[in-house]
Amino acid sequence: MWLTSSSIGRKVVMSVTGACLVLFLTFHMLMNLVYVYDVMVSTAAGDHYYDKVCEFLGTNWYALIATAGLALLVVLHFVFAFILTAQNYKARGKDRYAVSGKQPVHWAAKNMLVLGIIVILGMLLHLKDFWYNMMFAELAGAEGQYAPTAGFDWINLVFACPVIVVIYAVWFCALWYHMTHGIWSSMQTLGLNGKVWLNRWICISYVWATVIILGFCSVVVAAIINNGGFTGC
Ligand code: HEM
Repeated sequence: MWLTSSSIGRKVVMSVTGACLVLFLTFHMLMNLVYVYDVMVSTAAGDHYYDKVCEFLGTNWYALIATAGLALLVVLHFVFAFILTAQNYKARGKDRYAVSGKQPVHWAAKNMLVLGIIVILGMLLHLKDFWYNMMFAELAGAEGQYAPTAGFDWINLVFACPVIVVIYAVWFCALWYHMTHGIWSSMQTLGLNGKVWLNRWICISYVWATVIILGFCSVVVAAIINNGGFTGC
């Protein structure tokens, strides 16, 4: 099939899956801001809006379908990244990024695979911290430290540990770099550029990636404030 057999087809798969993952991250970040609201604004002790969001998503059929779709997107994005990188090495050896003229190549552009691997490793830790204790626990009927829908308490627990916070900080940096290049590059592949739009997309990539990462950082900071500092791992 054209999408898998030609190099432009494989780039289209990378671009579409990448764009969908950015949309997921935007939604995920906005959902997590409810936790920040609970910590900073809501005064109703013990009655957390964030838990209501987790309860609403829970293990409903739409949440399970979304999770399966998300897993497929991640696998496709990851597998095609390896195929494209191997193909680029074969074509150009160590000179991995083809450019015309003397335009400098951005650091992130040359290191997308390494950044992507750090993102995936961080995500595995993240899924163990949250998805395993929440969605998986609810499906398996397992008894954890907190209820599967007690997202507010799980966030407090995870970010009580300074080592985890440092690992998440490294993960967020890699994700930021990855998106600053990935967003505009995918738009270019999909033909949504043109002379003026290319620079606009580069600018949009930086702003969008920064907003997403700052949103996630605000959750971590709110958790540290809520915990009154680091209380242990
Ligand atoms: C402070 C930052 C973050 C917090 C507090 C957070 C919180 C959570 C929580 C509570 C869940 C479990 C939801 C449930 O199963 O009911 C979850 C799932 C997930 N998170 Fe995050 N998240 C953060 C950042 C990220 C980032 C940066 C990524 C991706 C790079 C990510 C990817 C995922 C994925 C793929 C799932 C599984 C979704 C599903 O089951 O459908 N998260 N996160």
